[in-house]
Amino acid sequence: MTAEYKVHGNVAVITLANPPVNGLGLSTRQGIVDGLEKANADSAVKSIVITGAGGAFSGGADIKEFGTDKAMQEPNLNSVIAAIENSDKPVVAAIHSVAMGGGLELALGCHYRVAAPGCSVALPEVKLGILPGAGGTQRLPRVLGVEPALNMIVSGEAIKSEMLAMLPGQKLFDKLVASPEVLAAEALAFAQSVADVRPMPLVRNLPCKHPQGDAYFQFARNMVKGMSKNFPAPAKCVDAVEAATKKKFADGLATEREIFINLMWTAESRSLRHLFLAERAASKIPDVPSDTPKRDIKAVAVIGAGTMGGGIAMNFLNAGIPVKMLEMKQEALDRGLATIRKNYEAQVKKGKLKQDKYEQRMALLSTTLDYADLKDADLVIEAVFEEIGVKEAVFKQLDAVMKPGAILASNTSTLDVNKIAAFTQRPQDVVGLHFFSPANVMKLLEVVRGDKTAKDVMATVMAVAKKIKKVAVVSGVCDGFIGNRMIEQYGRQGGFLLDEGCTPAQVDKAIEKFGFAMGPFRMGDLAGNDIGWAIRKRRYQEKPDMKYSKTADLLCEKGRFGQKTGAGWYDYVPGKRDAIPNAEVVQMIEEHRKSLGITPRKISDEEIVQRLVFALVNEAAHILEEGIANKASDIDVVYIFGYGFPVHRGGPLNYANEVGLFNVAAAMKRFAQNPLDDAKFWQPAPLLARLVAEGKNFQ
Ligand code: 3HC
Ligand code: NAI
Repeated sequence: MTAEYKVHGNVAVITLANPPVNGLGLSTRQGIVDGLEKANADSAVKSIVITGAGGAFSGGADIKEFGTDKAMQEPNLNSVIAAIENSDKPVVAAIHSVAMGGGLELALGCHYRVAAPGCSVALPEVKLGILPGAGGTQRLPRVLGVEPALNMIVSGEAIKSEMLAMLPGQKLFDKLVASPEVLAAEALAFAQSVADVRPMPLVRNLPCKHPQGDAYFQFARNMVKGMSKNFPAPAKCVDAVEAATKKKFADGLATEREIFINLMWTAESRSLRHLFLAERAASKIPDVPSDTPKRDIKAVAVIGAGTMGGGIAMNFLNAGIPVKMLEMKQEALDRGLATIRKNYEAQVKKGKLKQDKYEQRMALLSTTLDYADLKDADLVIEAVFEEIGVKEAVFKQLDAVMKPGAILASNTSTLDVNKIAAFTQRPQDVVGLHFFSPANVMKLLEVVRGDKTAKDVMATVMAVAKKIKKVAVVSGVCDGFIGNRMIEQYGRQGGFLLDEGCTPAQVDKAIEKFGFAMGPFRMGDLAGNDIGWAIRKRRYQEKPDMKYSKTADLLCEKGRFGQKTGAGWYDYVPGKRDAIPNAEVVQMIEEHRKSLGITPRKISDEEIVQRLVFALVNEAAHILEEGIANKASDIDVVYIFGYGFPVHRGGPLNYANEVGLFNVAAAMKRFAQNPLDDAKFWQPAPLLARLVAEGKNFQ
């Protein structure tokens, strides 16, 4: 059973026991209803307490049940709450920790609520593209007031119980006890004290009004519209809360239910739910059990204080872990330190970081020019020039000085981690930690597992990633790992589109309308077009058969490397990031097209988007089949957290599933007919072809 029933004196206690967060799945819902029936049938019981086992009262509806029959099966959450409201004996919610979504709604259905301080209280449904569907939009405004409740519902953010208890006139908590430790005893005593109180209070009977209703909801709608581009749920939250103020309770509840069910079927909600589970699944490695012993990481060393080294160091300082940075010359160290300081000072200036916190973080940072000073570090991350000879020298020195058991990581973005590991006598301790720039901001971390990387090293770095608040995804060793290997195909399509008739602005606009934060050409200008140029030069040697548009090379030959040179695919005014189309670049593209004998054609936004996105999908299918990525959802996580893929589309493979893999493969076959494109690339990857044949999706 996922809900336990016990009687203490004359109080029945129903304990939700569905780890990890007491999600309100079918058997837990049934367990609550059964408990209520038992308690009501037992004349020795005078009142009832509902509480949660483990680290949560309840994290809400069981997200893993969504999309299955179980989610809607009776007793649904509304029926459970109705059973509480109809109980002959008072029901007290005893909240010692997380009360979120359906968990909070369950508590709001109880006659009384007793809580400990420190509980995270939220209606976070909006983050899953839905709204509270078990009365949350109708009951929360009745206990907190309309404005605080709407703010919580629209933002989905958690607020601590002690803060909520301070809201004037709040009726959410009947009692806030001194600490979680005394909650159980105090809740029992409270339940006894209200055993004979009649009538029993119900949140649904409280009034719900806003003095300037129409004006306030208009204002709320305007605010929400600006913030929630691409997502329908936030505006619907406003509608539901407005219904609470204007309709009878039962009618408001029906309105909420109807909106809830409609939102549940939207692609946006499916994407957000997919990403919630995908993000958590990414931290699990199939052959590395969660109880694998981890190495202790108390001190970190970073080699190289350049663009990446400084950002990498900041992650650890932010998490309270001391860092020692090593460089070749004092000037390089000074430059690196100055950049770190500048970054922190900007945060202090914006009010995002307190001065004393900044000083505490800087105090954790030390520097050296001598490898011997690194010997006690538990983890060392190399971020030196991207040249195999330089990496070799660094790893040989690390092998000589680092203590046994230290983890040696490389931030390489293109080099072979197995080769790097082979420079040492301890390849089992070597791993790739591929941060994204700016490393102190970007959430994604690709963890590159070498052939010999030990399992406990993998377990340790995944845990470290969580500690420094990164979303870590495991990648096998290959050129570009998961993310950059895919982006190369996307970039190639961008080039072909220019050759065939597009301008950079047209391509960028189409894909930005699809939802990407930045199109490929604005992105190239930001990252530096010279980086792609260097990779292509290598490719021309390694893979002479691979077809590329030469336009980007012509651009680089003009020195137009992007924002850093004030000119790339676009022009830039110093100090600003606005991309201004440049007539000479457009002319350069046209002349190149002419030289190839191509007559430009009008290309639709739909074709632009499909070619860019399906290029990602086809490469991803190869990556998956080769075992470079462990699962399809890992690839979605990489693209959402590292490459600005639109969140509401849930990542490239989730999007492909939504479009239908049959349609995706059919489009690829069409693109293969285009003589100016790369017919070989557009052969659907074997995995994709198999899934289409079997009528399956990427899983
Ligand atoms: N249902 C099922 N599983 C859940 C869950 C839920 N509501 N919430 C969390 N989990 C699972 C996670 O998938 C993860 O599982 P795993 O160990 O197998 O990977 C595990 O619980 C731990 O989750 P976190 O890693 O996120 O743990 P944290 O301690 O960092 O956070 C939390 C705990 C604050 C509860 C966080 O998980 C969270 O925010 N959960 C989502 C809560 C939510 O959105 N609730 C609303 C659900 S919709 C609803 O209630 C509809 C109703 O209105 C009708
Ligand atoms: P960078 O040129 O800004 O910094 C490299 C630093 O390493 C310089 O300060 C240099 O003095 C130092 N250095 C070089 N050889 C050294 C040695 N033998 N010992 C100690 N220090 C040495 O380079 P960047 O951009 O920080 O890149 C570093 C690594 O990170 C490369 O492997 C790169 O591929 C990778 N990377 C870069 C990303 C980016 O966007 N810049 C993104 C992800 C990974």
